[in-house]
Amino acid sequence: MADPRILIVGAAGQVGVELQRSFADYGSIVAVDRESVDLADAGQTRDLVRRVEPEIILNAAAYTAVDRAESEQELAMAINAHAPRVLAEEAFRRNALLVHYSTDYVFDGSKQEPWTEGDEPHPLNTYGATKLAGEQAIQNVGGRYLIFRTSWVYGPHGQNYLLTMLRLGRERERLTIVDDQFGAPTTSIELARATYTIVSGVLAGQFGVSNDWAGLYHMTCSGSTTWCRFAQAIFSGAGKLLDGRLPEVIPIATEDYPTPAKRPRNSILSNAKLRERFGVRLASWQAALDAVLQVLSSEE
Ligand SMILES: NC(=O)c1ccc[n+]([C@@H]2O[C@H](COP(=O)([O-])OP(=O)(O)OC[C@H]3O[C@@H](n4cnc5c(N)ncnc54)[C@H](OP(=O)(O)O)[C@@H]3O)[C@@H](O)[C@H]2O)c1
Repeated sequence: MADPRILIVGAAGQVGVELQRSFADYGSIVAVDRESVDLADAGQTRDLVRRVEPEIILNAAAYTAVDRAESEQELAMAINAHAPRVLAEEAFRRNALLVHYSTDYVFDGSKQEPWTEGDEPHPLNTYGATKLAGEQAIQNVGGRYLIFRTSWVYGPHGQNYLLTMLRLGRERERLTIVDDQFGAPTTSIELARATYTIVSGVLAGQFGVSNDWAGLYHMTCSGSTTWCRFAQAIFSGAGKLLDGRLPEVIPIATEDYPTPAKRPRNSILSNAKLRERFGVRLASWQAALDAVLQVLSSEE
């Protein structure tokens, strides 16, 4: 398809910004942030798609405040479940491709091995429940859709764990961090790159008809770690970003850091289906971290 029209929703978010970069030369992009559309309003969301008439919709928007969602369930449901349903209905109506992101927090963390797409979701918190409802809404509509479940997303910009750690690392000598939750830190850069490879391949007909490729896939950086070890890797790779300081990191148990929303112990996602179907593999979390630290260092 020559020069497809691409609607990017959630354009100011971590993934939204990187999607704009990755798709910049691919088609004509209409990038929309909260200023232009409130996704909590189904009418506005529907009107947006009808006005833009896209061939591709990339939905990077979400209610991502995991703890706050416990007290804002309706709003989280509107953005994470109702808005994706409307986007899916509008995509279906015009035979457009919808790309949507979901989360490792649809799982309860009880499994010892990495979770596969066939495993039964059982969210422990409101955020996970609303994201699961969003996945199901899109699947119920059907059509040309791709749902990528990812985890522990961060990047050079936005609000994220890496930037919080760099700030705390400058302020404190010592930090206590949870060391018994396992997952795969995944960069917005890697997600956008992999999304681009798959979407451009789908539109070029590389992966067959939509019955062959439409569906739900896990998409994370490879390898896994804990929040505590992730922080240690950030501090040891930060160099001049921390002026050579190396804060002490003390591992603690989840019980010692109570939060409004419960988190899964193991939320490592198997990427085997993504590799087998599309031949796509994201970088290791360590290599992806180095790349983001390099971007930040070059911006200093
Ligand atoms: N962050 C993670 O650790 C993580 C983990 C697993 C999966 N994911 C998923 O990955 C995707 C991308 O996440 P991200 O980290 O890039 O999120 P993000 O940085 O929080 O960006 C989300 C964007 O959605 C926008 N948004 C929220 N409510 C809106 C509304 N009512 N109307 C219009 N826009 C609205 C936000 O705008 P404002 O900035 O104005 O609020 C923000 O720009 C999401 O589907 C998320 O659920 C994220």
